[in-house]
Amino acid sequence: MFDDLLRTWDGELVVVSHDPESGAWFFVCIHSTALGPAGGGTRLKTYPTPTEGLSDGLRLSAGMTRKFAVAGLPYGGGKAVICVQEMPDPSERRRLILRHADLVDSLGGTFLTAPDVNTSEVDMDVMAERTPYVFCRTPANGGSGDPSPSTARGVFHGICASLNHAYGSPDLTGRTVLVQGVGAVGRRLVFDLLGGGATVIECDVFAPCALGGVLNERSIPRLRCAVVAGSANNQLASPEDAERLTEAGILYAPDYVINAGGALHGIGLEVFKWTQETLERRLQGIGKTLTQLFMTADAEEITTEESAARMAAERLAESRPAEGPARGPALTHR
Ligand code: PHE
Repeated sequence: MFDDLLRTWDGELVVVSHDPESGAWFFVCIHSTALGPAGGGTRLKTYPTPTEGLSDGLRLSAGMTRKFAVAGLPYGGGKAVICVQEMPDPSERRRLILRHADLVDSLGGTFLTAPDVNTSEVDMDVMAERTPYVFCRTPANGGSGDPSPSTARGVFHGICASLNHAYGSPDLTGRTVLVQGVGAVGRRLVFDLLGGGATVIECDVFAPCALGGVLNERSIPRLRCAVVAGSANNQLASPEDAERLTEAGILYAPDYVINAGGALHGIGLEVFKWTQETLERRLQGIGKTLTQLFMTADAEEITTEESAARMAAERLAESRPAEGPARGPALTHR
Protein backbone atom coordinates (compact mmCIF):
# COMPACT_ATOMS: atom_id res chain seq x y z
CA MET A 1 0.00 0.00 0.00
CA PHE A 2 2.77 2.43 0.93
CA ASP A 3 4.52 1.67 -2.35
CA ASP A 4 1.33 2.32 -4.31
CA LEU A 5 0.87 5.60 -2.50
CA LEU A 6 4.32 6.82 -3.43
CA ARG A 7 4.01 5.62 -7.00
CA THR A 8 0.67 7.32 -7.62
CA TRP A 9 1.50 10.63 -5.85
CA ASP A 10 1.75 13.44 -8.37
CA GLY A 11 2.28 16.19 -5.80
CA GLU A 12 5.32 18.17 -4.68
CA LEU A 13 6.18 17.63 -1.04
CA VAL A 14 5.20 15.58 1.97
CA VAL A 15 6.53 16.44 5.40
CA VAL A 16 6.26 13.72 8.01
CA SER A 17 6.73 14.12 11.74
CA HIS A 18 6.25 11.65 14.56
CA ASP A 19 5.42 12.29 18.19
CA PRO A 20 7.04 9.44 20.13
CA GLU A 21 5.17 10.37 23.30
CA SER A 22 1.70 9.62 21.90
CA GLY A 23 2.51 7.73 18.72
CA ALA A 24 0.78 10.45 16.67
CA TRP A 25 1.94 11.04 13.09
CA PHE A 26 1.78 14.42 11.38
CA PHE A 27 1.55 14.52 7.61
CA VAL A 28 1.69 17.83 5.76
CA CYS A 29 0.91 17.11 2.11
CA ILE A 30 1.69 19.83 -0.41
CA HIS A 31 0.22 18.77 -3.69
CA SER A 32 0.84 21.88 -5.76
CA THR A 33 2.18 25.40 -5.41
CA ALA A 34 1.55 26.23 -9.08
CA LEU A 35 -1.06 28.88 -8.24
CA GLY A 36 0.48 30.08 -4.97
CA PRO A 37 1.43 28.83 -1.52
CA ALA A 38 -0.47 25.68 -0.57
CA GLY A 39 -3.57 26.05 1.58
CA GLY A 40 -5.58 23.34 3.27
CA GLY A 41 -7.23 22.25 6.45
CA THR A 42 -5.71 20.28 9.29
CA ARG A 43 -7.63 17.09 10.00
CA LEU A 44 -7.31 15.42 13.42
CA LYS A 45 -8.41 11.82 13.28
CA THR A 46 -7.81 8.22 14.24
CA TYR A 47 -7.05 5.91 11.33
CA PRO A 48 -6.69 2.12 11.27
CA THR A 49 -3.03 2.67 10.33
CA PRO A 50 -0.82 5.76 9.86
CA THR A 51 -0.52 4.83 6.17
CA GLU A 52 -4.25 5.39 5.83
CA GLY A 53 -3.85 8.80 7.41
CA LEU A 54 -1.16 9.64 4.89
CA SER A 55 -3.29 8.32 2.06
CA ASP A 56 -6.18 10.55 3.17
CA GLY A 57 -3.89 13.58 3.31
CA LEU A 58 -2.43 12.92 -0.12
CA ARG A 59 -5.83 12.58 -1.80
CA LEU A 60 -7.33 15.52 0.07
CA SER A 61 -4.43 17.79 -0.88
CA ALA A 62 -4.94 17.00 -4.57
CA GLY A 63 -8.59 17.96 -4.13
CA MET A 64 -7.49 21.28 -2.65
CA THR A 65 -5.39 22.06 -5.75
CA ARG A 66 -8.47 21.66 -7.93
CA LYS A 67 -10.67 23.46 -5.41
CA PHE A 68 -8.55 26.62 -5.45
CA ALA A 69 -8.11 26.46 -9.22
CA VAL A 70 -11.86 26.27 -9.89
CA ALA A 71 -12.68 28.83 -7.18
CA GLY A 72 -10.18 31.23 -8.73
CA LEU A 73 -8.07 31.68 -5.60
CA PRO A 74 -4.28 32.13 -5.95
CA TYR A 75 -3.38 29.22 -3.70
CA GLY A 76 -2.04 25.75 -4.21
CA GLY A 77 -3.38 22.54 -2.76
CA GLY A 78 -2.33 21.14 0.58
CA LYS A 79 -3.73 19.24 3.54
CA ALA A 80 -2.44 18.26 6.94
CA VAL A 81 -3.42 15.15 8.83
CA ILE A 82 -2.72 14.59 12.51
CA CYS A 83 -3.12 10.87 12.80
CA VAL A 84 -3.75 10.02 16.45
CA GLN A 85 -4.12 6.66 18.19
CA GLU A 86 -7.04 7.98 20.24
CA MET A 87 -8.82 11.32 20.39
CA PRO A 88 -6.75 13.47 22.79
CA ASP A 89 -8.04 15.13 25.97
CA PRO A 90 -7.85 18.96 26.04
CA SER A 91 -4.30 19.29 27.38
CA GLU A 92 -2.95 16.60 25.07
CA ARG A 93 -4.83 18.22 22.21
CA ARG A 94 -3.14 21.52 22.93
CA ARG A 95 0.27 19.84 23.00
CA LEU A 96 -0.35 18.14 19.64
CA ILE A 97 -1.75 21.28 18.03
CA LEU A 98 1.28 23.32 19.17
CA ARG A 99 3.60 20.66 17.85
CA HIS A 100 1.78 20.79 14.54
CA ALA A 101 2.01 24.60 14.56
CA ASP A 102 5.81 24.39 14.91
CA LEU A 103 5.91 22.00 11.96
CA VAL A 104 3.76 24.31 9.82
CA ASP A 105 5.86 27.30 10.87
CA SER A 106 9.06 25.51 9.85
CA LEU A 107 7.74 25.44 6.28
CA GLY A 108 7.98 29.22 6.20
CA GLY A 109 4.64 29.92 4.52
CA THR A 110 4.73 27.25 1.83
CA PHE A 111 1.72 25.77 3.59
CA LEU A 112 -1.09 27.65 5.33
CA THR A 113 -3.71 25.81 7.28
CA ALA A 114 -7.32 26.10 8.40
CA PRO A 115 -9.96 24.06 10.25
CA ASP A 116 -11.07 20.70 8.89
CA VAL A 117 -12.59 17.50 10.33
CA ASN A 118 -12.21 17.65 14.14
CA THR A 119 -10.37 20.99 14.23
CA SER A 120 -11.91 24.40 14.83
CA GLU A 121 -11.20 28.10 14.92
CA VAL A 122 -10.16 27.63 18.56
CA ASP A 123 -7.40 25.23 17.45
CA MET A 124 -6.33 27.86 14.90
CA ASP A 125 -5.98 30.35 17.79
CA VAL A 126 -3.69 27.87 19.55
CA MET A 127 -1.65 27.40 16.37
CA ALA A 128 -1.37 31.17 15.98
CA GLU A 129 0.61 31.24 19.23
CA ARG A 130 3.44 29.68 17.22
CA THR A 131 2.88 30.51 13.57
CA PRO A 132 1.24 33.18 11.41
CA TYR A 133 0.38 30.60 8.73
CA VAL A 134 -3.20 29.93 9.79
CA PHE A 135 -6.60 30.97 8.51
CA CYS A 136 -9.87 31.13 10.42
CA ARG A 137 -8.73 32.11 13.90
CA THR A 138 -11.62 33.34 16.08
CA PRO A 139 -12.81 36.88 15.32
CA ALA A 140 -11.75 37.84 18.87
CA ASN A 141 -8.24 36.87 17.85
CA GLY A 142 -8.33 38.74 14.55
CA GLY A 143 -9.43 35.88 12.29
CA SER A 144 -12.47 35.25 10.09
CA GLY A 145 -13.79 32.59 12.46
CA ASP A 146 -15.57 29.32 11.75
CA PRO A 147 -15.72 28.78 7.96
CA SER A 148 -18.46 26.10 8.21
CA PRO A 149 -21.45 28.45 7.71
CA SER A 150 -19.86 29.63 4.46
CA THR A 151 -19.18 26.06 3.34
CA ALA A 152 -22.83 25.24 4.07
CA ARG A 153 -24.01 28.35 2.23
CA GLY A 154 -21.94 27.44 -0.83
CA VAL A 155 -23.40 23.94 -0.80
CA PHE A 156 -26.88 25.42 -0.51
CA HIS A 157 -26.31 27.50 -3.66
CA GLY A 158 -24.81 24.42 -5.30
CA ILE A 159 -27.87 22.33 -4.49
CA CYS A 160 -30.16 24.97 -6.00
CA ALA A 161 -28.02 25.06 -9.16
CA SER A 162 -28.08 21.26 -9.33
CA LEU A 163 -31.86 21.16 -8.92
CA ASN A 164 -32.17 23.71 -11.66
CA HIS A 165 -30.11 21.55 -13.98
CA ALA A 166 -31.87 18.30 -13.06
CA TYR A 167 -35.48 19.55 -12.86
CA GLY A 168 -35.49 22.93 -14.59
CA SER A 169 -36.12 24.90 -11.38
CA PRO A 170 -33.90 25.81 -8.41
CA ASP A 171 -36.92 26.00 -6.10
CA LEU A 172 -36.56 23.92 -2.93
CA THR A 173 -40.26 23.99 -2.09
CA GLY A 174 -41.59 20.45 -2.03
CA ARG A 175 -38.15 18.92 -2.56
CA THR A 176 -36.69 16.36 -0.22
CA VAL A 177 -33.03 16.37 0.73
CA LEU A 178 -31.20 13.67 2.64
CA VAL A 179 -28.28 15.18 4.54
CA GLN A 180 -25.72 12.62 5.67
CA GLY A 181 -23.68 13.91 8.58
CA VAL A 182 -24.86 16.78 10.73
CA GLY A 183 -21.49 18.07 11.91
CA ALA A 184 -20.24 21.61 11.57
CA VAL A 185 -21.39 21.96 7.93
CA GLY A 186 -24.30 19.50 7.60
CA ARG A 187 -26.09 20.96 10.61
CA ARG A 188 -26.11 24.44 9.11
CA LEU A 189 -27.08 23.16 5.70
CA VAL A 190 -30.20 21.59 7.21
CA PHE A 191 -31.28 24.99 8.56
CA ASP A 192 -30.67 26.67 5.20
CA LEU A 193 -32.67 23.96 3.39
CA LEU A 194 -35.60 24.16 5.79
CA GLY A 195 -35.57 27.92 5.33
CA GLY A 196 -35.81 27.34 1.57
CA GLY A 197 -38.90 25.19 2.01
CA ALA A 198 -37.35 21.75 1.58
CA THR A 199 -38.27 18.65 3.56
CA VAL A 200 -35.16 17.05 4.95
CA ILE A 201 -35.39 13.23 4.61
CA GLU A 202 -35.45 10.89 1.54
CA CYS A 203 -34.83 12.32 -1.21
CA ASP A 204 -34.47 14.17 -4.50
CA VAL A 205 -31.06 15.32 -3.37
CA PHE A 206 -28.52 13.31 -1.40
CA ALA A 207 -26.08 15.64 0.38
CA PRO A 208 -23.03 13.79 1.74
CA CYS A 209 -21.64 16.03 4.49
CA ALA A 210 -19.73 13.50 6.57
CA LEU A 211 -16.53 11.74 5.49
CA GLY A 212 -15.25 10.62 2.09
CA GLY A 213 -15.77 7.50 0.01
CA VAL A 214 -19.58 7.31 0.38
CA LEU A 215 -20.16 7.11 -3.37
CA ASN A 216 -18.96 3.67 -4.32
CA GLU A 217 -19.73 0.48 -6.19
CA ARG A 218 -22.09 -0.70 -3.47
CA SER A 219 -23.87 2.53 -2.56
CA ILE A 220 -24.50 4.02 -6.01
CA PRO A 221 -26.88 1.29 -7.28
CA ARG A 222 -28.92 1.82 -4.12
CA LEU A 223 -29.26 5.59 -4.40
CA ARG A 224 -32.78 6.83 -5.11
CA CYS A 225 -32.20 10.46 -5.93
CA ALA A 226 -31.67 12.73 -8.92
CA VAL A 227 -28.87 14.81 -7.45
CA VAL A 228 -25.83 14.19 -5.24
CA ALA A 229 -24.57 17.49 -3.86
CA GLY A 230 -22.89 17.79 -0.48
CA SER A 231 -19.92 19.18 1.40
CA ALA A 232 -17.73 16.13 2.14
CA ASN A 233 -14.31 16.00 0.51
CA ASN A 234 -13.36 12.94 -1.61
CA GLN A 235 -16.93 11.69 -2.02
CA LEU A 236 -16.07 9.32 -4.86
CA ALA A 237 -14.38 6.15 -3.61
CA SER A 238 -12.76 5.64 -7.03
CA PRO A 239 -12.67 7.58 -10.32
CA GLU A 240 -15.05 5.07 -11.94
CA ASP A 241 -17.76 6.08 -9.50
CA ALA A 242 -18.27 9.27 -11.51
CA GLU A 243 -19.27 7.08 -14.47
CA ARG A 244 -21.48 4.96 -12.26
CA LEU A 245 -23.41 8.04 -11.13
CA THR A 246 -23.85 9.27 -14.70
CA GLU A 247 -25.08 5.85 -15.81
CA ALA A 248 -27.55 5.79 -12.93
CA GLY A 249 -28.92 9.11 -14.18
CA ILE A 250 -27.74 10.98 -11.10
CA LEU A 251 -26.38 14.50 -11.40
CA TYR A 252 -23.23 14.75 -9.28
CA ALA A 253 -21.95 18.14 -8.10
CA PRO A 254 -18.17 17.59 -7.84
CA ASP A 255 -17.18 17.84 -4.17
CA TYR A 256 -14.28 20.24 -4.48
CA VAL A 257 -16.39 22.67 -6.51
CA ILE A 258 -19.47 22.74 -4.30
CA ASN A 259 -17.56 22.76 -0.99
CA ALA A 260 -15.22 25.67 -1.72
CA GLY A 261 -17.19 28.01 0.56
CA GLY A 262 -14.93 27.51 3.57
CA ALA A 263 -11.83 28.33 1.57
CA LEU A 264 -13.53 31.39 0.03
CA HIS A 265 -14.44 32.47 3.56
CA GLY A 266 -10.98 32.12 5.13
CA ILE A 267 -8.97 33.46 2.25
CA GLY A 268 -11.46 36.00 0.93
CA LEU A 269 -12.12 37.64 4.28
CA GLU A 270 -8.56 37.51 5.60
CA VAL A 271 -6.31 37.98 2.58
CA PHE A 272 -8.52 39.95 0.19
CA LYS A 273 -10.50 41.74 2.91
CA TRP A 274 -13.82 40.98 1.21
CA THR A 275 -17.01 42.34 2.73
CA GLN A 276 -19.76 39.87 3.72
CA GLU A 277 -21.58 40.93 0.54
CA THR A 278 -18.63 40.02 -1.64
CA LEU A 279 -18.30 36.70 0.15
CA GLU A 280 -22.00 35.93 -0.39
CA ARG A 281 -21.65 36.84 -4.06
CA ARG A 282 -18.72 34.46 -4.40
CA LEU A 283 -20.67 31.72 -2.60
CA GLN A 284 -23.49 32.21 -5.10
CA GLY A 285 -20.82 31.92 -7.77
CA ILE A 286 -20.38 28.27 -6.73
CA GLY A 287 -23.85 27.68 -8.18
CA LYS A 288 -22.90 29.46 -11.40
CA THR A 289 -19.68 27.49 -11.73
CA LEU A 290 -21.62 24.26 -11.27
CA THR A 291 -24.17 25.24 -13.91
CA GLN A 292 -21.37 25.97 -16.32
CA LEU A 293 -19.63 22.66 -15.75
CA PHE A 294 -22.92 20.71 -15.91
CA MET A 295 -23.56 22.26 -19.33
CA THR A 296 -20.08 21.36 -20.52
CA ALA A 297 -20.58 17.81 -19.25
CA ASP A 298 -23.84 17.51 -21.21
CA ALA A 299 -22.39 19.04 -24.37
CA GLU A 300 -19.21 16.98 -24.33
CA GLU A 301 -20.87 13.83 -23.00
CA ILE A 302 -18.44 13.55 -20.11
CA THR A 303 -19.04 13.12 -16.40
CA THR A 304 -19.43 16.23 -14.26
CA GLU A 305 -16.28 15.14 -12.40
CA GLU A 306 -14.34 15.15 -15.68
CA SER A 307 -15.86 18.49 -16.57
CA ALA A 308 -14.62 19.93 -13.25
CA ALA A 309 -11.20 18.34 -13.69
CA ARG A 310 -10.89 20.04 -17.10
CA MET A 311 -11.86 23.38 -15.64
CA ALA A 312 -9.21 22.97 -12.93
CA ALA A 313 -6.60 21.86 -15.46
CA GLU A 314 -7.30 24.92 -17.64
CA ARG A 315 -6.80 27.28 -14.70
CA LEU A 316 -3.60 25.54 -13.71
CA ALA A 317 -2.31 25.63 -17.29
CA GLU A 318 -3.04 29.37 -17.59
CA SER A 319 -0.78 30.01 -14.60
CA ARG A 320 2.12 28.20 -16.17
CA PRO A 321 4.70 30.22 -18.07
CA ALA A 322 5.62 28.98 -21.55
CA GLU A 323 8.65 27.20 -20.13
CA GLY A 324 9.46 25.66 -16.79
CA PRO A 325 7.34 24.97 -13.76
CA ALA A 326 5.05 27.66 -12.47
CA ARG A 327 5.52 29.46 -9.18
CA GLY A 328 2.62 31.34 -7.76
CA PRO A 329 2.84 34.89 -6.47
CA ALA A 330 4.35 34.93 -3.00
CA LEU A 331 1.42 36.27 -1.05
CA THR A 332 2.42 37.85 2.20
CA HIS A 333 0.50 36.52 5.12
CA ARG A 334 -0.19 39.02 7.90
N1 PHE B 1 -11.40 22.44 5.40
C1 PHE B 1 -11.44 23.39 4.35
C2 PHE B 1 -11.68 22.69 3.02
O1 PHE B 1 -11.62 21.47 2.92
C3 PHE B 1 -10.11 24.04 4.28
C4 PHE B 1 -9.98 25.51 4.26
C5 PHE B 1 -10.82 26.42 4.89
C6 PHE B 1 -8.87 26.00 3.59
C7 PHE B 1 -10.56 27.76 4.86
C8 PHE B 1 -8.60 27.35 3.56
C9 PHE B 1 -9.44 28.23 4.20
O2 PHE B 1 -11.92 23.33 2.04
